[in-house]
Amino acid sequence: MKRIHTVAEMQAQSDAWRGAGLCVGLVPTMGFLHEGHLSLVDHSLEAADRTVVSIFVNPLQFGPKEDFAIYPRDMERDLDLLSRRGVDAVFHPQTVEFYPPDFSTLVEVEELTKGLCGPFRPGHFRGVTTVVTKLFTAVKPHLAVFGQKDYQQAAVIRRLVRDLNLDLRVEVAPTVREADGLAMSSRNILLSAEDRQRAPALYEALTMGQKKIEQGERDASQIIAAMRAHIERTLDASIDYISIAHPDTLEEVAHITGPVVIALAVRLSNVRLIDNIIAAPLSR
Ligand code: PAF
Repeated sequence: MKRIHTVAEMQAQSDAWRGAGLCVGLVPTMGFLHEGHLSLVDHSLEAADRTVVSIFVNPLQFGPKEDFAIYPRDMERDLDLLSRRGVDAVFHPQTVEFYPPDFSTLVEVEELTKGLCGPFRPGHFRGVTTVVTKLFTAVKPHLAVFGQKDYQQAAVIRRLVRDLNLDLRVEVAPTVREADGLAMSSRNILLSAEDRQRAPALYEALTMGQKKIEQGERDASQIIAAMRAHIERTLDASIDYISIAHPDTLEEVAHITGPVVIALAVRLSNVRLIDNIIAAPLSR
């Protein structure tokens, strides 16, 4: 497995693969890899001839009061996991090259970032779309794989790729969960033992919402109230939002007539967790 640190070297490697007619897949990550990331890696290994995993904790997507400094990191373990999985190259750009002191270009998707996590994390998606654009131009992939756990992020990146005519395919792979239902996330390690034990209440709330929709409930506010009550009963949590939204536009839906995404963001003693599920009324 190659370890690549500079944009020039990454582009040269990708050009060589492309020149040889090989399909290049990219899995962008911020490291501290878990089974969820590895499922994205497997997706790329399956779909592409060469797989690049980028590891870069992107300062631009963290707010001033967010967890950039304590975001978990373990490069040696990540490299070991990826080489054993059969990844071809790890791209680990240096912050000074990615963001020189006079860096001044931002990429912003205006729609799709106004709801859900957008208002709670000002500048976050602009940081994501800027770094992902840089990763795309450095790695030049034919396809890039993202996780459904970050549903809004995946939707925003699809829109970025479409709007800027980027010549690659975005693929979204299903959320991987712990045995008790908690969505895998690098942030789970920051949870206290008690919060970790109770955190499956988030997925329970999502499946409760999904079931209510399948059973015929059409009023989104009723469903959200029941989900909120379940979370508040179980967890000492501060709920940023519970939202029922159109799966493509991410606009809130009040009366449910078709497929929706139920998404939530919750803070457990300052660890912010997100999760989502797709739900649809059963046809009768
Ligand atoms: O989902 C993530 O880990 C990050 O937002 C991403 C896509 C790697 C960009 O930094």
